Amino acid sequence: MSAIALILAAGLGKRMKSSLPKVLHPVLGDPSLLWVLRALPPEVGHAVLVLHHGKERVEQALASWTTQGLLPCPVTTVDQGEPLGTGHAARSAAAELDRLGAEKVIILCGDVPLIRRETVAALASAPAALLALEMENPHGYGRVVQKADGTLSAIVEHKDASEAQRAIRRVNGGAYALPWRPLREALGRLTNDNAQGEFYLTDAVMDVASRQPVAVDLCDPDELMGMNSRADQAQLQRFAQERINAGWMDEGVTFLDPSGAIVGPRVFLGRDVLVAQGVSLEGSVTVGDGAVLGQGCVITDSAIGDGALVRPYSVINQSQVGPGSLIGPFAHLREGTVLEKGVHLGNFVETKKTLMHAGSKANHLSYLGDSEVGERTNIGAGLITCNYDGFNKHRTVIGKDVFVGSDCQLVAPINLGDGSLIGAGTTVTQDVPADALALSRSPLTIKEGGAARIRARLKAVKQGR
Ligand code: UD1
Ligand code: MG
Repeated sequence: MSAIALILAAGLGKRMKSSLPKVLHPVLGDPSLLWVLRALPPEVGHAVLVLHHGKERVEQALASWTTQGLLPCPVTTVDQGEPLGTGHAARSAAAELDRLGAEKVIILCGDVPLIRRETVAALASAPAALLALEMENPHGYGRVVQKADGTLSAIVEHKDASEAQRAIRRVNGGAYALPWRPLREALGRLTNDNAQGEFYLTDAVMDVASRQPVAVDLCDPDELMGMNSRADQAQLQRFAQERINAGWMDEGVTFLDPSGAIVGPRVFLGRDVLVAQGVSLEGSVTVGDGAVLGQGCVITDSAIGDGALVRPYSVINQSQVGPGSLIGPFAHLREGTVLEKGVHLGNFVETKKTLMHAGSKANHLSYLGDSEVGERTNIGAGLITCNYDGFNKHRTVIGKDVFVGSDCQLVAPINLGDGSLIGAGTTVTQDVPADALALSRSPLTIKEGGAARIRARLKAVKQGR
């Protein structure tokens, strides 16, 4: 049976008070809509997204997720036009669902990010079902009325409910699995004769339930929490953080402060990884066995090798850190940094588009951009690759076993041959052959007693003599 996900995401999200469409607001670094799409199990072969407000931005995001291979199935979009209710949203997708040959439709909301894949899979396996939850304070939700056999009898929206119905604490979670043909017919019969003047999807669900049993499946409330405000977003972030960090602790990861570490849904942590306080790992991040991530490290879209030590407050983006490497504190690895095994990058070192071969070191205060550093080469404190001339970027290639003294500038494009030695303070403006010494020094002057004379003069000036 061909199951297709229908994801409602046309709402404005007024309460977010944002220029960003609601479904693109992130939870642990990933937009809400991406969470929902990633929760689709393999039996869902296609997703149809209903959009309107902020449609272009959502479509741009979809294109980028597709390019990155983040989506579990093909996704197409329809424009609802002015949103007139959840039923209207579903109806606007009818032609697309017909075109795709839908037999069963799994309806989810783009602003309900924490639904689990197992929950969607269970929903998809039922002939017809709705997810419900029990709430202490059900205000605002549709109340679920069940038949004696537990199947769905009615869903009454809060604004349309009687006092007695408002006392019901079992509410509609807004996720459904329904056979497409009867749903399609029911959507055709919808009216907006209700307290909100909207076309309610819930009326169509009740219509289907009047013809065949629709199961009511109780679900964990966290999974069905929607993001309607910034406070909801913060709460969702806490739920997700708890769920993810607890999962990694079960897999053998140590967290010094699980409630103070951000680990996104696309992060993979190996055994015996240690995550210190205030670490943030977002996007696609893999961390190898036994690696240590020091306090306050911020790592996005990167891979950290086994046993690497990332000392506090290092920032790593779109980079690879080889096994056993030592990074930071306060290192900044920018996009395209690739470190082979056992590389040392110390405090206040910035790298960009730089390949450092095994065992090379740059321990202090350097900028390495558009460059390659050979095996075992040592970069002294304060090296700058001058890679930019105001118009173009140029490459620096440093061979293996090179020793670069402190405070050198390498004016790219430039090559330093294997085994060469660059004296401290040198500005290198031409290629250095293998095993050569390169040195640029202005003559040093020493004046005996000069310091004492200057001090005496300055003291006299200060005392007004
Ligand atoms: C809906 C249900 C309610 C349920 C609640 C759970 C209806 C009539 N009611 O109410 O029973 O308890 O969800 O959260 O369905 N959307 C569109 N186009 C529209 C209107 C909404 O795409 O014209 C999208 C929204 O962006 C959102 C989703 O549909 O993602 C749900 O809409 P929302 O307005 O939040 O529904 P509720 O009124 O909360
Ligand atoms: Mg509403």
